[in-house]
Amino acid sequence: MSDSANSHSLYGGAIHRRITVKDIQKAKSVERWPMLTAYEQYTAEIFDTCGIPVLLVGDSAASNFLGYENTIPVTIDELLPLARAVVRSTKRAMVVADLPFGSYESSPEQALATATRFMKESGVHAVKLEGGERVAPQIRALVAAGIPVIAHIGLTPQSLHQLGGYRVQGRGEDGALLKESAHAVQDAGAFAVVLELIPAELAADITEALTIPTIGIGAGNQCDAQVLVWSDLMGLTQQPPKLAKAYRNLRKEIGDGVKEWARDVASGNFPGEAQSFQ
Ligand code: KIV
Repeated sequence: MSDSANSHSLYGGAIHRRITVKDIQKAKSVERWPMLTAYEQYTAEIFDTCGIPVLLVGDSAASNFLGYENTIPVTIDELLPLARAVVRSTKRAMVVADLPFGSYESSPEQALATATRFMKESGVHAVKLEGGERVAPQIRALVAAGIPVIAHIGLTPQSLHQLGGYRVQGRGEDGALLKESAHAVQDAGAFAVVLELIPAELAADITEALTIPTIGIGAGNQCDAQVLVWSDLMGLTQQPPKLAKAYRNLRKEIGDGVKEWARDVASGNFPGEAQSFQ
């Protein structure tokens, strides 16, 4: 794979329209690309301007935007306005909405009703759901209705309590099962698959075996793409997971700025002349 961005590249290239499923399919084995979460207008706009080709309105908004402990409680009605804001604030990125826990598992019909709401009421371009073989009927139903789907296997945070915590999945003999899941979601019609918290070697093997792109998070560097929760990447999260690397310390930056302003308020230095009116 080439590292450099050329004019056709997904990341930052000269594609002056929305990124499509076809663009993403074409990039398989040609370019490694980045994907980030976004939950509101400013970050969505910045990431889009930077050329990030796919933005995920993840259910991780639950614990990175809405103050919940994990992703389980977040609802469709809470995620919809965030998805709308991200779509409105971007011009190029494909925007993908996560289907929250409890909104798709019971049947393909339920999945279709939920995904249809996201497509119609927020304008997202694709949806993501968690699970392997068990959600293959749901993926088939969405794809048959014209809704592009990203699957998500390995550590699936909505199954946190069943998995017994945020643990590495697919070690040892479980690796073969995970590989079967990857094939099951591909065969069902998913156009990409997130591999979360699995051994790097297994992720490389799945990436090689599949014709659809793999999007890694805690899955080594051989996946076709990498996704991160933006607040982990920028050092805003209080306790970032081991799978993330903080490229900035936004928590400190914001804290320092706020303290500086508060001191200026106390000393009478804010507002200054520039912020005052005659
Ligand atoms: O909700 C989310 O942010 C996700 C990514 C971490 C893949 O599912």
